[in-house]
Amino acid sequence: MTKQKLVQFFFERNYMITPDILKKFPDSFDYDSFLDAHKNFQRSQSTSLLTEDMVQDIFQTKAQIVQTPLIQPTKIEVIDIYNDKPKKREVKDFVGYMRMRYASLKKILLQRPELQTAISINKAFTKSQKEPVALLGFVYAKDQTKNGHYILELEDPTGIIKVLIGSKNVELIALMDEIVLDEVIGVIGTMGDSMVYAKEIIFPDIPIKEYKRIQDDVCVCFISDLHVGSKMFAKEEFEHFIDWLNLLYGTEEQKELARKVKYLVISGDLIDGVGIYPGQEKELYIDDIYGQYDALAVYLGSLRDDIKIVVCGGNHDALRLSEPQPPLSKEFARSLYKLKNITFVTNPSMVRIHNTFDILMYHGYCFDYYMNNVEFLRKAGSYDASDAMMQFALKKRHIAPTHVSTLYIPDPERDPLVIERVPDFFVSGHIHHDVKITTYKNVTLIGCCSFQYKTAFQEKLGHTNITWAKSPIINLKTRQVTVMDFRKEEEIIKNEIIL
Ligand SMILES: [Fe+2]
Ligand SMILES: [Fe+2]
Repeated sequence: MTKQKLVQFFFERNYMITPDILKKFPDSFDYDSFLDAHKNFQRSQSTSLLTEDMVQDIFQTKAQIVQTPLIQPTKIEVIDIYNDKPKKREVKDFVGYMRMRYASLKKILLQRPELQTAISINKAFTKSQKEPVALLGFVYAKDQTKNGHYILELEDPTGIIKVLIGSKNVELIALMDEIVLDEVIGVIGTMGDSMVYAKEIIFPDIPIKEYKRIQDDVCVCFISDLHVGSKMFAKEEFEHFIDWLNLLYGTEEQKELARKVKYLVISGDLIDGVGIYPGQEKELYIDDIYGQYDALAVYLGSLRDDIKIVVCGGNHDALRLSEPQPPLSKEFARSLYKLKNITFVTNPSMVRIHNTFDILMYHGYCFDYYMNNVEFLRKAGSYDASDAMMQFALKKRHIAPTHVSTLYIPDPERDPLVIERVPDFFVSGHIHHDVKITTYKNVTLIGCCSFQYKTAFQEKLGHTNITWAKSPIINLKTRQVTVMDFRKEEEIIKNEIIL
């Protein structure tokens, strides 16, 4: 539907619409809904001009259209969170944990036709030379020889076998930058003398996800890393953000977008915390955890009642570092727990919004390790490529495959960092670089920035691209992505459609 149709609509009812008045309708104006809602609009007895007042009324009505009952009521469901069973962990728990990880990823890999004939490593040693073989296993070691070949050591519960990747196999050699220790992969090749000559390497990966859209014209807004309590908290910009969601800030078009926001997803580091790094006390304007959460509760408590919020913790929140991190502490964050519209989940976790879209939320603490140590990710842009990092995790079907990359809970019943379900959206934070949104196999990857100016610590680490006060918004009807920019030095709010 175009503006032309609108002109026609009024013309048929004997109203003339001037170009100036027409400009007052934002590009995002939903003409279909408007015309539908106004099909009984009274015809004028004589030809008249459409007045400013009438247009004001139309906008009022538009607000009512957005707020008419939705086809689906707004709802946040918790699909997968980690249920903690506090107990002392023993060595056998680590063994059980890795066994469960292997079982989960084996199940995923065995869905691949190429791996239907996969055998255990001990059986591979009984095969004759040159026989084809398919195997699954953990990457136990990865080394490059002087001649440019790679040797992987692949381990399953029955043994360890060497896998040779010849230097002339350009495709496989290129993959070596992506291979990390402790991930589970599939290998297809031929047997040599007690080793396998690899022809193909298969990651668990995700299938192409169904590209969902809904009829309700509602949006989900993503933010992360607010760091309330820090002197570097971007207070003014965050207040612009809150005012924008409350329809008190921005252009009419931007308010129109805000009006459609029914979900707010916050992916950790809500506060700056206390005692997170040496000398932090000098960089705090609120130096206790209760006070930091209280200040945030004032902001979130002032939001429109029709916005539902979901939050997970991050490494700055008052929680243990081991992942999955539990939901925010009911003790420290009690002021947030008093608010009605917030769902508290573990980090990571999976939530479903509007009965349709599954969102994998992960703060991103382990991303530092991978961005600094994995050549493939360094080449992709490191901290400027949180989307490449999330794609990497989806390919591995694991949030943090390498043992040393994060602290974790060695649950012998389940590895909760395996990505069992394929989400529609995968959102992360922690990086504090610019917002990054791309799509991988129809999964929308959303790397948030922060609401914290560049800190001395980030300066010391050489982070030049620290970005704050931007928020991506996805329309669930159209899947259109808009990034709002609340930085004061920009003078105006940027509204940049990036997908
Ligand atoms: Fe952060
Ligand atoms: Fe963080």
